Amino acid sequence: MAIKSVQVALLFWTTALLSWRTFCLAELIEDQGYASCVTSRRQVQNLSGQNLTNVPLDLNNDMQYLDLSHNPLVELQAAPFQRLSQLCFLKATSCGLRVINPGVFVHTPKLKFLNISNNLLDYIPDLSLPLLKILDLAGNQYDSYQLPATFETLTNLSALYLGSENTLQVDFNDFDSLSDSSLHHLILGGGVEWQRYDRGSLTKMKSLQRITLKVPFCENLDLFENLLEDVNETQTTHLELVNVLPDLCNVTGDPFRNLRTMPLVTHLTIVNTWINSSFMMIFLKNVFLSNVRTIIFTNITYSEDTPEGFKFPTLNHTMVLRSLTFDGLKHHQYKYPSIEISVDMFSKMDYLKFSGTGMNTVPCNLISTLPSLETLDLSNNVLSDTGFWPSICSYTSVFPNLRHLSLSENRFVDLSFIAQQTHQMKYLESLDLSFNSIVLDKPCFWPIHITSLSLSNNNLGNKVFSFLSQYLQQIDLSKTGITTLTKEDLLQFPMLTHLFLSSNSIKVIPTDLSPTLVSLYIDQNYITSISRESLVGLPSLRTLKAGDNPFVCSCDSYWFINTMNKSLLPDWPLDYTCSTPPSVADLPMSEYRTSRMSCEAWLQAAVALPVTILIVLALCSAFYACDGVWYTKMLWVWIRVKRRGQKQANLLNNTTFRYHSFISYSHQDSAWVESKLVPSLEGAGLSLCIHERDFVPGQWIVDNIINCVEASYKTLFVLSNHFVQSEWCNYELFFAQHRAIDAQQDSLVFILLEPIPTNSLPKKFLKLRRLLMQQTYLEWPKDERKQQVFWVNLRSMLQVADHRILKDMALELTQSASLIPDDLVPLLK
Ligand SMILES: *[C@@H]1O[C@H](CO)[C@@H](O)[C@H](O)[C@H]1NC(C)=O
Ligand SMILES: *[C@@H]1O[C@H](CO)[C@@H](O)[C@H](O)[C@H]1NC(C)=O
Ligand SMILES: *[C@@H]1O[C@H](CO)[C@@H](O)[C@H](O)[C@H]1NC(C)=O
Ligand SMILES: *[C@@H]1O[C@H](CO)[C@@H](O)[C@H](O)[C@H]1NC(C)=O
Ligand SMILES: *[C@@H]1O[C@H](CO)[C@@H](O)[C@H](O)[C@H]1NC(C)=O
Ligand SMILES: *[C@@H]1O[C@H](CO)[C@@H](O)[C@H](O)[C@H]1NC(C)=O
Ligand SMILES: *[C@@H]1O[C@H](CO)[C@@H](O)[C@H](O)[C@H]1NC(C)=O
Ligand SMILES: *[C@@H]1O[C@H](CO)[C@@H](O)[C@H](O)[C@H]1NC(C)=O
Ligand SMILES: *[C@@H]1O[C@H](CO)[C@@H](O)[C@H](O)[C@H]1NC(C)=O
Ligand SMILES: *[C@@H]1O[C@H](CO)[C@@H](O)[C@H](O)[C@H]1NC(C)=O
Repeated sequence: MAIKSVQVALLFWTTALLSWRTFCLAELIEDQGYASCVTSRRQVQNLSGQNLTNVPLDLNNDMQYLDLSHNPLVELQAAPFQRLSQLCFLKATSCGLRVINPGVFVHTPKLKFLNISNNLLDYIPDLSLPLLKILDLAGNQYDSYQLPATFETLTNLSALYLGSENTLQVDFNDFDSLSDSSLHHLILGGGVEWQRYDRGSLTKMKSLQRITLKVPFCENLDLFENLLEDVNETQTTHLELVNVLPDLCNVTGDPFRNLRTMPLVTHLTIVNTWINSSFMMIFLKNVFLSNVRTIIFTNITYSEDTPEGFKFPTLNHTMVLRSLTFDGLKHHQYKYPSIEISVDMFSKMDYLKFSGTGMNTVPCNLISTLPSLETLDLSNNVLSDTGFWPSICSYTSVFPNLRHLSLSENRFVDLSFIAQQTHQMKYLESLDLSFNSIVLDKPCFWPIHITSLSLSNNNLGNKVFSFLSQYLQQIDLSKTGITTLTKEDLLQFPMLTHLFLSSNSIKVIPTDLSPTLVSLYIDQNYITSISRESLVGLPSLRTLKAGDNPFVCSCDSYWFINTMNKSLLPDWPLDYTCSTPPSVADLPMSEYRTSRMSCEAWLQAAVALPVTILIVLALCSAFYACDGVWYTKMLWVWIRVKRRGQKQANLLNNTTFRYHSFISYSHQDSAWVESKLVPSLEGAGLSLCIHERDFVPGQWIVDNIINCVEASYKTLFVLSNHFVQSEWCNYELFFAQHRAIDAQQDSLVFILLEPIPTNSLPKKFLKLRRLLMQQTYLEWPKDERKQQVFWVNLRSMLQVADHRILKDMALELTQSASLIPDDLVPLLK
C-alpha cells in the first residue's frame, strides 16, 4: 500500500484565537422549547433579572412560557402557579432556590421544559409531570444523584441534566426510577472528579442513546474505563466528554482503549479539553480502530509536547471515520504545529470541518489528497483569497469530489477571482461566502455546477444580482444591504428555487417574481403588507418566511391575515406583529380582526347592491302604498309656497281678513251649503268665501283656494263621504292642515254632514283622521231644534275673533300668500 505522508503546516493568526464561537446545544434546546410551547407572544413572560423576591401572583392564566431567572426568589411557592394550567416552559435558573414546594407543579400538568439549573437545591425535588420532556437540574448543591421515586412518572422525559459540585460518587441505585423511562439523553456531572462509580448504575437506563459526561478523569482513570464499559451496555451511539482530561493532567496509560470494542458508539465529541500531541496520537489510534464515524473536537487546547510534532503511525486498517470536526482550537505554543499524517488514511473521509482555528492558508497537498471529501467547512478562520488558493500550488485535482464548501467568516474579498477558481472544483454545488468582505467590481464567470451560493452578511447592495450565476437554484443574500427587489433582478435565474433575503431593507415583494421559487425568506425587512397579487407570481411557493416586518394592520393585510394558507409560513403566528396604525401596534397579527365586508370592494358591492335594491324596492312600495307621490307633491308645493311667502312677510303686517271663513265642500253637498249653511251664516253677518261664488273666474283653481284660505280667518270643512272622495277637497284640506299645524289649530272647523267612521277614511288622509280624532266637530243634526243649536254654535266658533290670533294668522297667511309656481302646474294636474 502506497503511503503518502504530507507535512501539514498551518499558519496561525494569534489574535483570532480568542474569537472562536462555541457550539451551543443548550441554546438550541431552549429555542425548541419556545417553538413547541408558545403559540402567541402574549403568552410569553420574561421576568428575568427583575430583582423579584416572589413570583408575581397576577400572572396571565394562559401563560405558556415563563422565565424567572436571575431573581432572588430562594423558594418556589405553590400559590402563583395554581392558575397557570397552560404553563409549558418554565425557567428559573440562578434564583438561589433552596426549596421547591411540593405543590408547585401540581396545577401545571402541561409543563414540558423545566430548567431549574444553577440554584442551591440540596436535594433533587419530587416531580411528577408526565409530559415533561426536558429537565435541567444541573449546577445545584445536592450531594447525590439518587433520583426520587416520583421520577417514575416522567415517562416522556427525553433529556435529563444532572450535575452538582457536591456529588462525588454515582451509586448503583441512583437511576433506578428511570429504568423504564424513554430517556434519550443524559447529561451528567458537575465538573468535579468522581471518587466512586458503581458499575452497572448507568446501564439501568437501557434506552439511553446519548451520554454527555461533564466529569474530568485524571486521578482515577480506571473509573473512566469502567464507565465506558457500562456505556457499552446501553444503546448509546453518541458520547460527549466535557473536559474529560483536566488541564496539565499527566495522563499515563491508554484510557480510551475501550473505544475499540464499543461497536455502538459512532459519534464522539470531546469538549473543553487540553490535548497534548503525545496523547492525541494514542487517542486517535483508538478512534481509528473503533467504530466511530464522526469525531468532533470543540474548544480544544492543543499543545505540542513531542519534539517532532504530531506524527501519526501508519495503520493498514480501513478506517470507519468519515467526519472530522475541529471547532475552536487554541494552540498552547505560539508556533505552527507540525503534523505528519498519512492522508491516505483519510481517503474515505467525506466531511471535514476546521473552524475557529486561526488558519490562514491551506496547504497545497491537502487540496488534492482528500479524494472522497464532499464537505469542507473552513468557516471562522482568517483565510483570504490567496490563502485558500495560494499561487504556489498547482491545481491539477482540487478537492476532486467536493460538493459543499464553506468559507464563511473569513477574509475573502474578490468575488470575480473566487468565481474563476471554482471552475477547478468540478463537482462543487454549494459555496458559502457569508460573513466576508466581498467586493463586487469585476464581472463574475461562474461554473455551471455551482447551484447554491451564500453571500449573506456582506455589504453588497442592489447590484449584486448581476454578479451571480444564472445556474443558481439557491441564493442567500440575507443582510446584504438590498433595498429593492425587482422582477428583472430574478429574471436571469430560470432555475431559482430558494431565495433568502432576510434582514434587508426591501419594502415590496414585486408581482410575478419567479415561477420556480419554492422557498422565499423575506423576514426582517420593511415589508408592510403581503398581497395576493405578489404571491400569484409564485405558483410553486411552499415556504414563505416573512415575519418581523413592520406590517400595517388594515385592509391591506386582510387577505394575508384571513385567507392566505398559513401552512406556507413557518414563522406564523409568532413573528407577525402589527406595527401600524398605532392603535394596534404590537398586536399579534393573528389577533387582528377586521371584517371582510369592510375590506373587499367587490364584496361590498356584491352585498350592497342587492341590499340597496331591496331597500329601494321597499321604499318604493311603501311610498306607493302610502300615496307618497301625492304627499310629496303637496309637501313640495307647500315648501315652495312657504319659502316664497317668507320674503314678503314684513310687507303684510297689517293685513286683516276679508272673510270669516272659507267653506270647503264637495259639489255633491252644494245644495246643503247653498240652501242652509250660507244663508244661515251670512244672515248672521259673517262673510264667507265660497268656492263657486267667490272664486275668480279664469284663475287656476288652486290659486283660488289659496287666495281664499289666506283671506279667511277660519276654514270650514263640510265633511261627507263625497267630500272625502273628492280630489279637490283633498288639496284644500292639505293646505288647511298645514296652516293649522303651523299656526293655529283653531283655524279648522269641521261639520259632519253624515257619519264618517274614522277608519273608513283612505289612508292618505292620515292628517284628517288625526284632526278628526283630536278636534271637536259639529255634527249636522236631522232634528230641527237641534239645528238651531248647531247654527248658534257654528256662528260663535267663526266669530271668536281674538285680535292677537288674528294678527298671528294674518302674518302666517301672508307668508303663504304667493302663488303656486307655474312649474308646478303640470305636477298638480
Ligand atoms: C438552563 O438554563 C441555563 C442558564 O441559562 C442554560 O445554560 C442551560 O442551557 C439551560 N438548559 C437547557 C436544557 O436549556
Ligand atoms: C429575558 O430578559 C433578559 C433580561 O431582560 C434577556 O437577557 C433575555 O434574553 C430575555 N429572554 C428572552 C427569551 O427574551
Ligand atoms: C434588589 O432589591 C433589594 C431590596 O429588595 C435592593 O436592596 C437591591 O438594591 C435591589 N437590586 C437591584 C439591582 O435593583
Ligand atoms: C409523550 O410524547 C409523545 C410525543 O413526543 C406523545 O405522543 C405521547 O402521548 C406522550 N406521552 C405521554 C404519556 O404523555
Ligand atoms: C461491548 O459489548 C460487546 C458486545 O456487545 C463486547 O463484545 C465488548 O467487549 C464490549 N466492550 C466493552 C469495552 O465492554
Ligand atoms: C501535556 O503536556 C504538558 C507538558 O508539556 C504536561 O504538563 C501535561 O500534563 C500534559 N497533559 C496531558 C493531558 O497529557
Ligand atoms: C508524566 O508521568 C510519567 C510517569 O508517571 C513521567 O515519566 C513523565 O515525566 C510525566 N510527564 C510530565 C510532563 O510530567
Ligand atoms: C474552553 O476550554 C477550557 C478548558 O480547556 C475552559 O477553561 C474554557 O472555559 C472553555 N471555554 C468555553 C467557552 O467553554
Ligand atoms: C497489516 O495487515 C496485515 C494483514 O491484514 C497484518 O498481518 C499486519 O499485522 C497489519 N499491520 C499492522 C501494522 O497493523
Ligand atoms: C395549505 O397548503 C398545504 C400544503 O401546501 C395543503 O396541504 C393544505 O391543504 C392547504 N390548505 C388549504 C386550506 O388550502
